[in-house]
Amino acid sequence: MIGMVAETGHFVVKNEGYVDFKEGQDFESAEMMLFDIIDETAHVQYAHNWLDKLAAHAGVDNSDYRERAAKVREEYQANAIKLAGELDRKLSRTPGDPTFDFYQDLLGRIRAACPLANAATCPPRSPKPM
Ligand SMILES: [Fe+2]
Repeated sequence: MIGMVAETGHFVVKNEGYVDFKEGQDFESAEMMLFDIIDETAHVQYAHNWLDKLAAHAGVDNSDYRERAAKVREEYQANAIKLAGELDRKLSRTPGDPTFDFYQDLLGRIRAACPLANAATCPPRSPKPM
């Protein structure tokens, strides 16, 4: 489940993060994303290797595991997009609102500590899968 759903499902977002950090001249974060992508690639390979073997050992027909995992990832993605939309609609964008002001202050401190050269030009990215 983890290998075929969560780990497989995050590669698009992780690759986009890598590109954004690299193009933003934040090479430490870009390198961290590469390590994470390599690490998660190994985990997904473990899942592909062991799911067949474990199913055979248990006498279970697991031949459609790729299709079932893709379906679960689609469901998780749809739920995550729905939740993100609900949270986005509730998000304050009013200066003077303590929550908005706190977020803006935090964002400003992060950008001051580690400015991204492309912060203003990064394209919209894929929603977090789950
Ligand atoms: Fe992992």
